[in-house]
Parts: sequence; C-alpha cells; structure tokens
Amino acid sequence: MKKLFGVLGNPIGHSMSPVMHNDLFSFYNIDAHYLPFQVKEEDLQAAVKGLKAIGVGGFNITVPHKSDIIPFLDEVDELAASIGAVNTVVNEGGRLVGYNTDGPGFLKGLQGYFPTLVGKRILVIGAGGAARAIYYTLAKEKPCKVDIANRTIATASKLSEDCPYSISSRILSLKEAEENVGEYDLIIQTTMIGMSPKIDEQPLQLNNVNKQALVCDIIYNPLETKFLQAAIIKGATIQNGIEMFVFQGALAFEKWTGFFPDVQRMRDNVLKQLGGKTC
Ligand code: ATR
Repeated sequence: MKKLFGVLGNPIGHSMSPVMHNDLFSFYNIDAHYLPFQVKEEDLQAAVKGLKAIGVGGFNITVPHKSDIIPFLDEVDELAASIGAVNTVVNEGGRLVGYNTDGPGFLKGLQGYFPTLVGKRILVIGAGGAARAIYYTLAKEKPCKVDIANRTIATASKLSEDCPYSISSRILSLKEAEENVGEYDLIIQTTMIGMSPKIDEQPLQLNNVNKQALVCDIIYNPLETKFLQAAIIKGATIQNGIEMFVFQGALAFEKWTGFFPDVQRMRDNVLKQLGGKTC
C-alpha cells in the first residue's frame, strides 16, 4: 500500500519539500507520496491525531508548528527536546517520534568544507529557532567556541544558557561582532535579514572578515544575500541556505526509508524549483 508522507505548516504553498521528496520516491521506486498540509494552529492536535490514525509514514513540520507539535507526539529525541523544536516525525511502529534535522542538516552541509569543527572559532548571528538548532548541534562538535551575536542580548543569553552541552560562548551585540568578525573560522547568518523582498539589508558588515573563513547564510532566496556578496568581495568562501535545506531533507528521508539519498539530485531539484522564484 502506498505510504503517505507530508509537511504541516501555515502557510505551506511555498514549500519545496513535496517536489523534492516525491522526486526521490519515484527515483528510488518507493511506493510513497508526500503532500503539503496547511494546518491552522488550533487544528494542529487534530491533524497529528488524524495522520497517526491513518498510519502516516512520517512528516515534516514547518513554521509555525515546530515547537507547538511537541506535546502531541509520543516521543521526542534528545537533541530536538533540547532545541525545543521538531521538524521531522517518524511513525515508528505506530508511535510518532519527533526529531530535529535542521541543525544536523546544517552540520552535514559543512562537511565538504570542514571535515571537523574541533578547535574552530564560530560566530552565529541571530538567536531565533534556526540559530538554536544550529548552535546546539555545533556545540556537540567540540569547537573552540561558538559566540552569538544578536540585536537583543537577553535572547542570545537565554539560548546559550539553555544549551545542555558545555561550550565556550560569548554573547555579542551586532556592533561588537562586526568589530571582531576577523577572529572567526565560520560565520553563520541565521536571521531573515536580507531575505527577499528586503534584499538590500545585512545584519553586520564584514570588512574585517578572515579570507580563510567560511561565511554561511541560511537564506536561499536570494541565493546570494547582500551578506554573502560582502563576504565574496572580501575573498571569503560562502555557502547559501540551499545546503541546510537539502541536508535537513536528506536526513528526514533517511529516517523514513533507511537510506541516505543522492543530495546532488536534491540540490538540482531545489535549484530548478527556485528558478524564476528567487528575488
Ligand atoms: P527563526 O525562528 O525563523 O529563526 P525568529 O525566531 O523570528 O526566526 O528569529 C529571528 C532572529 O532574527 C532573531 O535573532 C532576531 O533578533 P531579536 O532576538 O533581537 O528579535 C533577528 N532579527 C529579526 N529582524 C531583525 C532586524 N531587523 N535586525 C536585527 N535582528 C533581527
């Protein structure tokens, strides 16, 4: 019988996950289908219960439900619980188990550039949900430090204090981070600043960035934010948000099917979907 997968969000029309996962199911001859489900906040519990009742194979959760879904699941794994957000649910013998593949997806996307993060000096810009997933995941990789720069210092302090993994971390204002930006091997922009349509904004200047640094932006529309363009001008290497998106999807697919898919195929698929949509 065909297995059902999907993504729950509100809105959900923009999601590239259905096309990406359906392409994989058909490529690997898996009898499954992945659908977008627009679910209002007040209907989330009923939606999860319904999906469980009909024997869903698994599903993704996106904005605004990543935290609110937790009480409606049978189990949540340790990393997702510490982050306080689930983006992937797997039906494990009738029990819905929640995972977070956003942080691990970001980490896996780095591996072509940094085989290890041991000893690296890292700056995370922003302290929202995406920053939390990335920070908690990177904290387990034994970097030298992971500093956080944010407009609101208290939010960044809370993120760092809540982290269950021991890690050296300074909390910086955006101005302080701008002044010290040269000391980092890896800089990760996690806010929505620079996302279409406000493409002329960037959270901080990169005048002093180290040429050896990898500068990442989790935004993929536009493919090159103003922040990434500034990094290129300074001679640094860049990575856009396609990698995190593709690898979080690949890790979800692996949890559902048991094997890790062809990420180059996924990347091509996403770029094709973005064709004509960026900016
Ligand atoms: P998500 O959960 O998608 O990561 P979020 O929780 O809305 O998004 O977090 C947005 C992040 O972008 C926060 O770090 C926010 O800073 P504050 O903690 O000060 O709110 C940051 N952010 C959003 N708009 C900003 C702006 N105009 N200038 C600076 N930081 C901004």
